[in-house]
Amino acid sequence: MSSVLTEAAVRIEHLTMSFPAGTGRQVVLNDISLSVAPGEFVTVLGASGCGKSTLLNLVAGLDRPTAGSIEIPGERPALMFQEHALFPWLTAGQNIELALKLRGMAKGERRAEAERLLELVRLGGAYGKRVHELSGGMRQRVALARALAQDSRLLLMDEPFAALDAITRDVLHDELTRVWAAQGRLSVLFVTHNVREAVRLAQRVVLLSSRPGRIAREWTVDIPQPRRIEDADVAELSQEITQQLRKEISRHGRH
Ligand SMILES: Nc1ncnc2c1ncn2[C@@H]1O[C@H](COP(=O)(O)OP(=O)(O)OP(=O)(O)O)[C@@H](O)[C@H]1O
Ligand SMILES: [Mg+2]
Repeated sequence: MSSVLTEAAVRIEHLTMSFPAGTGRQVVLNDISLSVAPGEFVTVLGASGCGKSTLLNLVAGLDRPTAGSIEIPGERPALMFQEHALFPWLTAGQNIELALKLRGMAKGERRAEAERLLELVRLGGAYGKRVHELSGGMRQRVALARALAQDSRLLLMDEPFAALDAITRDVLHDELTRVWAAQGRLSVLFVTHNVREAVRLAQRVVLLSSRPGRIAREWTVDIPQPRRIEDADVAELSQEITQQLRKEISRHGRH
C-alpha cells in the first residue's frame, strides 16, 4: 500500500513499447521511468518521431505497453490533443456539458458549470457558439474547458497549441498556467517538440532521446511564473536544452 505522501498522479515504471516493423519489431520507447507528483506540471520534450504521442497514448490507456507499468490512482485522465476534437454539431457549451454528463453530473447543474468553465478559459458568452464560428485559439480554449470538465486530477496534453500562430499560442500559455495554478492539485503531463514552450510552462522538463525514446536528461525549472517566452531566464535554459537535444538527435544519426 502506498502512502499519501508517495502517491504520484502517474507513475510510469520501466515502460517499453515496440511495434511490428518488417520481420522484427521497432522499439519506440525503451525503459522509461517517470512519475508526476500531484499538482506538478511536467513537459516531455523530444524530436519529432521520438515517441511522445506513443507515451501519452499509453498513459491515456489508448494502447497497452509491451513491458513495464503505468499506475494512475483515481479517475481516468483528461486528454487534449493538437486537434480540438470538439463535436461540430454541438455548441461550445454543449460540448462541455457532454463531458459533465459523462462524469455523472446531474442535468440541472450542468449549464451553470459549463458557463463557469467557459469563464475560466475567458470565453464567457460563447456558450451558444457553434464550433465553426470559433477561431482556432477559441476552439482550443473550449477543448481545455472540456478537458477540465472531466474534473480529473491528471491532464494529458499532446502539442495542443502546435497549430496556433505564435501570438495566440503565447496567450494560451498564459491561460494554461493560470488555470493550472487556480486548480491547485491538477497534474499536467504535456508533450511538445518546442523547447521554449516546454520551459515556458513546466516545473520540470524531461528530454527524450530518439530511436529508441529514452529519458536522456531532465531539468527542474525554478523560474517564477508568470514567465514570458522571451524572458532572459527562459531563453538561457532553452538554449542549454536545445544543445542537449541537438546532441541527442546527432547521436542517433539523424539530420
Ligand atoms: N501504431 C503504430 N504502429 C507502428 N508504428 C507506430 C505506431 N505508432 C507510432 N509508431 C511509430 O513510433 C514512432 C514514434 O511515433 P510518435 O507518434 O509517438 O512520435 P512523436 O514523438 O509523437 O512525433 P511528433 O513530434 O511528430 O508528433 C514513429 O516512428 C512511428 O512511426
Ligand atoms: Mg506526436
